Amino acid sequence: NNHIVIMAGGIGSRFWPMSTPQMPKQFIDVLGCGRTLLQLTVDRFQDICPSENIWVVTSVDYADVVKEQLPSIPVDHILLEPCRRNTAPCIAYVSWKIKAKNPKANIVVTPSDHVVMDVREFARVINSAMKFTADSDAIVTLGMKANRPETGYGYIEADLSMACPSNKEIYRVDAFKEKPDLEVARRYIQRKNYFWNAGIFIWNVNTIVNALRVYQPPMAEVFERMLPYFYTDKEQEMLNELFPTCENISVDYAIMEKAEEIYVFPASFGWSDLGTWGSLHENSKKDAHNNACIGNNIKLYETRNCIIHTTQEKKVVVQGLDGYIVAEKNDKLLICRLTEEQRIKDFAEE
Ligand code: GDD
Ligand code: MG
Repeated sequence: NNHIVIMAGGIGSRFWPMSTPQMPKQFIDVLGCGRTLLQLTVDRFQDICPSENIWVVTSVDYADVVKEQLPSIPVDHILLEPCRRNTAPCIAYVSWKIKAKNPKANIVVTPSDHVVMDVREFARVINSAMKFTADSDAIVTLGMKANRPETGYGYIEADLSMACPSNKEIYRVDAFKEKPDLEVARRYIQRKNYFWNAGIFIWNVNTIVNALRVYQPPMAEVFERMLPYFYTDKEQEMLNELFPTCENISVDYAIMEKAEEIYVFPASFGWSDLGTWGSLHENSKKDAHNNACIGNNIKLYETRNCIIHTTQEKKVVVQGLDGYIVAEKNDKLLICRLTEEQRIKDFAEE
């Protein structure tokens, strides 16, 4: 009854120019380990759930690359969105579909752009959380220790005064704040009861469907209308017609900031969202001057705290930089201060 839903339809715009709408970061071997971020995501669920119970939700544009990278996933478990509507419609679609066949399903929803160091601890936490949601109408989030005022994450305010009786590692959530500004994030990280939202959610299918009905009625209506078509020849055609009518909104704003019954499982398994150049810098091997060089032909002089990324056999020489991103791919070159990396999304869109 356990299902894993992998969301893999983002464009990774803060990782431009390595990540582009044509080939977003989840389909790239970002770490240079021989597996793409999407493949690493599937790998880490190997001992939690059989491949037949894994779903991948992505854009129709990425159908081929997903099939090619994940030959073990049943083709009819690769769900194709006709357009980008962010994570709430993605979750709604797959949830209504799973529920149509399996009303008692228990689900983990996960992004496809993370690194996890301790996969065994990760599996323990997921299994423990799934046991909890199997018979409780709870939305469970995984709380990561927040150690810097990151503005690209959601923040969870936990009530640490009392653990749940049925699972002593899980606590009630008082508030959820998606992507606060820097000043607010600074305030949050001073306090012990604030965690980063890992973006991994555990719930049973009824919990999420009911939450969407309460907090996003028009979206729920769209997938109620899809009900007669799931698992039929008409499904994609109807989806192509109805899905674009969904609001473009992430699950964090659509549900997490609004819902009441939210719980957090504070965990630590060496987690990072490979969302930005800074996070890749943090997770890469560095030289004696704290530079991360990804590429074969990079030469640095008097350079510190930089991340340099090349994709071709291009020779790159950098002199005198401190705290910069230098990244090139095809006909694009980015040189940007690491402290300004959240703006890369806007640069890419422009
Ligand atoms: N199918 C589908 N469709 N997937 C999508 C879409 C979409 O339209 N948009 C994004 N995704 C996928 C991305 O590929 C990624 O794997 C995941 O959903 C999360 O999207 P991001 O765009 O990477 O979200 P984020 O990193 O800004 O924020 C989320 O994750 C943070 C931690 O990694 C939030 O949940 C934050 O609260 C959280 O802290
Ligand atoms: Mg992300």
